[in-house]
Amino acid sequence: MVKVTVCGAAGGIGQPLSLLLKLNQNVDELSLFDVVNVPGVGADLSHICSDSKTESFVPSSKEDKSALANSLKGSDLVIIPAGVPRKPGMTRDDLFNINASIVRDLAQGIAENAPKAFVLIISNPVNSTVPIVAETLKKNGVFNPQKLFGVTTLDIVRANTFISQLYAKETKPSDFNINVIGGHSGETIVPLYSLGNSKSYYEKLSQDDQKALIHRVQFGGDEVVQAKNGAGSATLSMAYAGYRLAESILKSFKESSVVECTFLNLDESIKGAKEAKQLINGLDFFSLPVKLGVNGIEEVHYQVLQQISDDEKKLLQVAIDQLTKNIEKGVAFIKN
Ligand code: NAD
Ligand code: LMR
Repeated sequence: MVKVTVCGAAGGIGQPLSLLLKLNQNVDELSLFDVVNVPGVGADLSHICSDSKTESFVPSSKEDKSALANSLKGSDLVIIPAGVPRKPGMTRDDLFNINASIVRDLAQGIAENAPKAFVLIISNPVNSTVPIVAETLKKNGVFNPQKLFGVTTLDIVRANTFISQLYAKETKPSDFNINVIGGHSGETIVPLYSLGNSKSYYEKLSQDDQKALIHRVQFGGDEVVQAKNGAGSATLSMAYAGYRLAESILKSFKESSVVECTFLNLDESIKGAKEAKQLINGLDFFSLPVKLGVNGIEEVHYQVLQQISDDEKKLLQVAIDQLTKNIEKGVAFIKN
């Protein structure tokens, strides 16, 4: 029996993500938590004739902790798209003041009610919210670095789509699976087009076109924020991306060799994490391709860091500098 809980299930991401999870044959129980509107979303999804059971939970007051506790109890996987999205002109870091405490409180609920669950963090700024969750779980003595995932999958999805659009006659987006490493905001996002089957296409581009492609992946979120014009940020593509990571994790309970990029805590107990850290100035959190398994993250594919081009090395250095501050900010929020 697999139970998945979505925290923030009534939101722009939460609703389509919950729909996709409702259709997944590997999910037996879908638990929906939000501070508003979730009974309606739950009732709606519960009419779908897929085999999973759907339950929704909303607190009766600000003090009511039982709804969150009941939504989380017995969860194998918890996905968090709770919190406010950007408006035009804002950075993801501008969301910190509101989202940091939302994510901290949800992480506290996980520590108390589902300490063994896999936890996927979508709420921005991911570069800081993932350290917040790690520190909260550590404080409660239940942190397992193999089971905490910062969701950067939308960057991979965009990287695949955008290069394919440049070669629309010869390629499909699904031909690609670009490794995107670093973090999830602007210049911390580093797509590695020089590796794998994208290399030959990427190298055929002029230097200006290469720069434009990298910039589009790094700032793809802004395209959506601007197009939505004050009505939020990416929700549908994000639901797809979050679902892809969740689906891969569920798949890895049964198959080996599932690999995805994720923003993880490079705890040295994870194979390859120590080697990765040495190549990125000792950062504690970073997105890299990882091998998934029944226990979560089984191995970090640090080798990509040794294979990147000189141009990508320069992008990496910029990413490392920015990430250092983002990570420190998240850690300090819990420690101080
Ligand atoms: P939204 O405002 O549409 O939905 C957020 C939901 O969270 C709302 O339903 C709200 O009621 C709920 N919520 C607020 N406080 C809560 C709490 N304490 N517990 C549970 N639920 C709570 O926003 P959205 O568009 O769905 O975006 C959600 C977050 O995801 C934002 O922070 C956004 O920046 C982020 N995001 C991340 C990525 C990524 O790639 N990681 C991509 C897109 C958006
Ligand atoms: C994205 O990349 O689309 C998300 O992080 C949302 C945003 O604020 O851009």
